[in-house]
Amino acid sequence: MSVHREIKKVTTNVLLEMKKRGEKIAMLTAYDYTMAKIIDSAGIDVILVGDSASNVMAGHETTLPITLDQMIYHASSVVRATKRSLVIVDLPFGSYQANSKEALSSAIKIMKESGAHGVKLEGGKEVKESIERILTAGIPVMGHLGLTPQSIYKFGTYTVRAKEEEEAERLMEDAKLLEQYGCFALVLEKIPASLAQKVSESISIPVIGIGAGGGVDGQVLVTHDMLGMNHEFSPRFLRRYLNLYESMGNAFEQYIIDVKSRDFPSDKEQY
Ligand code: KIV
Repeated sequence: MSVHREIKKVTTNVLLEMKKRGEKIAMLTAYDYTMAKIIDSAGIDVILVGDSASNVMAGHETTLPITLDQMIYHASSVVRATKRSLVIVDLPFGSYQANSKEALSSAIKIMKESGAHGVKLEGGKEVKESIERILTAGIPVMGHLGLTPQSIYKFGTYTVRAKEEEEAERLMEDAKLLEQYGCFALVLEKIPASLAQKVSESISIPVIGIGAGGGVDGQVLVTHDMLGMNHEFSPRFLRRYLNLYESMGNAFEQYIIDVKSRDFPSDKEQY
């Protein structure tokens, strides 16, 4: 299958059309200019400036510590690199849960200061007012259900969600509500593949999965994980396309050897 390389900007409507014609949506995370430029040039449909930046870029154990200003810093770097992809930014923990007014001002700040194309937030009916208020300002909203890492202290574990019927029913109900509220797409994280497929078949907006099987409308992975930069993280759903931890480590070791042995710089590598 050929990858789209021509510069035709991806919009929320394009994603909807892709779902209608059964074309899968490819989404990856990015947090910086250089990575975003490579990902965008490769033809990715959606770049998510995820709050996973809290783990991947800042080394925190959870996504909770990252701030709105830090998300905006990452997002604006990504937007500067992007010609084609739709750029969606996570509303960080604490920037939208208190009330819908705060949610709207956080979303506006992201859009104004980063130039991104929409926001993502976690939760179902408990965030109804925030979603509806953000939408009144014309800001596209992506939902996120299943394993929602901002609630890790409620869950107590990063294990698969909605395996029991009661939680699965609640998730299906929330997915339908998010569609009704006006979300343009939905991320489903770490839930059984059969449930994710049922959700995708029950709603008209695109469903993008991570650890949610192949029956959904698209896939998202954390870029650093799929590049194999984080060798300590290997959940079942992760496909590694490179082993960058090893190849980068080898390059760094070789550089150290070359500097210490005076091999680098050579005569040709100086003025
Ligand atoms: O923050 C993130 O990277 C995410 C994806 C895992 C969906 O929310």
